[in-house]
Amino acid sequence: MQARSARRNGFELEVEVEFDLIKTDHTAPTMQSTPGDDDSFARIWQHGVIQFHWKPTTMKAAQFRQRFAFPRHGEDGEKIYFCGNSLGLMPDAARRRVELEMERWADLAVDGHFRGDPAWLGYHRQLEDVLMRLTGAAPGETVAMGALTVNLHLLMTSFYRPDGTRRKILIEKGAFPSDRYAVASQLRLHGLDPATDLVELEPGDDGLIEDARIAETIATRADELALVLWPGVQYATGQRFDMEMICRAARDNGVPLGLDLAHAIGNVPLRLHDWGADFAAWCSYKYLNAGPGAVAGMFVHERHADFTGPRLAGWWGHDEETRFLMGPDFEPIRGAEGWQVSGAPILNLAALAGALDVYREADIDSLQDSDTDLAARIADTVHALPGEPLEIVTPLERTRRGCQLSLRVRAGRDSGRAAFDRLQADGVVGDWREPDIIRVAPNPLYNSIQDVDRFGEILTRSLR
Ligand SMILES: Cc1ncc(COP(=O)(O)O)c(C=O)c1O
Repeated sequence: MQARSARRNGFELEVEVEFDLIKTDHTAPTMQSTPGDDDSFARIWQHGVIQFHWKPTTMKAAQFRQRFAFPRHGEDGEKIYFCGNSLGLMPDAARRRVELEMERWADLAVDGHFRGDPAWLGYHRQLEDVLMRLTGAAPGETVAMGALTVNLHLLMTSFYRPDGTRRKILIEKGAFPSDRYAVASQLRLHGLDPATDLVELEPGDDGLIEDARIAETIATRADELALVLWPGVQYATGQRFDMEMICRAARDNGVPLGLDLAHAIGNVPLRLHDWGADFAAWCSYKYLNAGPGAVAGMFVHERHADFTGPRLAGWWGHDEETRFLMGPDFEPIRGAEGWQVSGAPILNLAALAGALDVYREADIDSLQDSDTDLAARIADTVHALPGEPLEIVTPLERTRRGCQLSLRVRAGRDSGRAAFDRLQADGVVGDWREPDIIRVAPNPLYNSIQDVDRFGEILTRSLR
């Protein structure tokens, strides 16, 4: 064992390297360097197990900006990219990782499944340590796989088990359409009717839903509920929910609970294991920056590790030791990996691996610091606009939001849309949600204070 320390991009890094170990132990989460980032790390990566001990210093906004590709604006400018809540920017490491696997495919062909480090067979496991940090999970509780809505279906097939009067599903009114379609179709699969068995909790006049009301609804309607599916951060309003409180209410009342973390993972700290959620699912193309259609992920709490209930099984969820014996009976891998269905999409996972390399260094808790709170700076600009043309829908308390702000244009749809078009023409990438909302999400990994200040000037102009 040898210890080294190094500095990279302002981070203190200690590395312990075991040189002689030829076979990587895929049962334990291992961390790996980004191939090509640094020769010595890349060389070590080829030959042994490395333990990285990142000691992230307090993160600053735009700390990782140089590692992302920014869309161009005009002759030599860059767009002000505030659309990471829809599709995150491309990290250079994602491209490199994909190229590396293309080369390995060319060199090794089918042998790539079993040779190389990591071999494709256990490729997804190199991501477990980062997913654990991002979600606050214990070993075995997370897996990178599938796509968000598909994963929700897989999980609801197992955890939504209507029984007698306990048969309804609770979601928020105004849920992301795919979630609503998914729960409505799950109800129908059980012969139930969404008109009576889907409970949608209405937001208040401000468009938000008080956490205490959610907990109270779970408690008072527990006898009717067979599942709660709730977002970590609401996609339209940017409201972050008190996931701990909601999970506790579900646990206390014996109602299974799943979280949709599409807008939460990589945006706000999560403690899924401690909170006790039954399951969670997320996509990786937003704050995880893994590219369009990226491999998603899921969490299944440890208490369900030996789950014997119904599931939609496939050979990739079968015990790896015996998978290739091609037996007729399904023996699931313990934990979240048992929900895998099809062979892992390696090229797509490679992009995710490159994207998650950034999160090996970024301290997710620092994303909450005032130094990285670019949204607060935007809120100040909005409040200073003459005539208050915008209403900030997102709650501004730090614990009730991530980095997204949803701005309602008071003048209504037509002039709002015109202002949004002017923003776009001037190089701002945000998005428009009908009828009158502009969403902006400055991601502190790559957005800077300068981005925010330039945005402030352009916004002021475009609302005149
Ligand atoms: C909250 C939420 N749920 C579900 C989805 C659908 O995701 P996918 O198309 O990856 O299944 C999205 C996509 O943006 C989302 O934001």
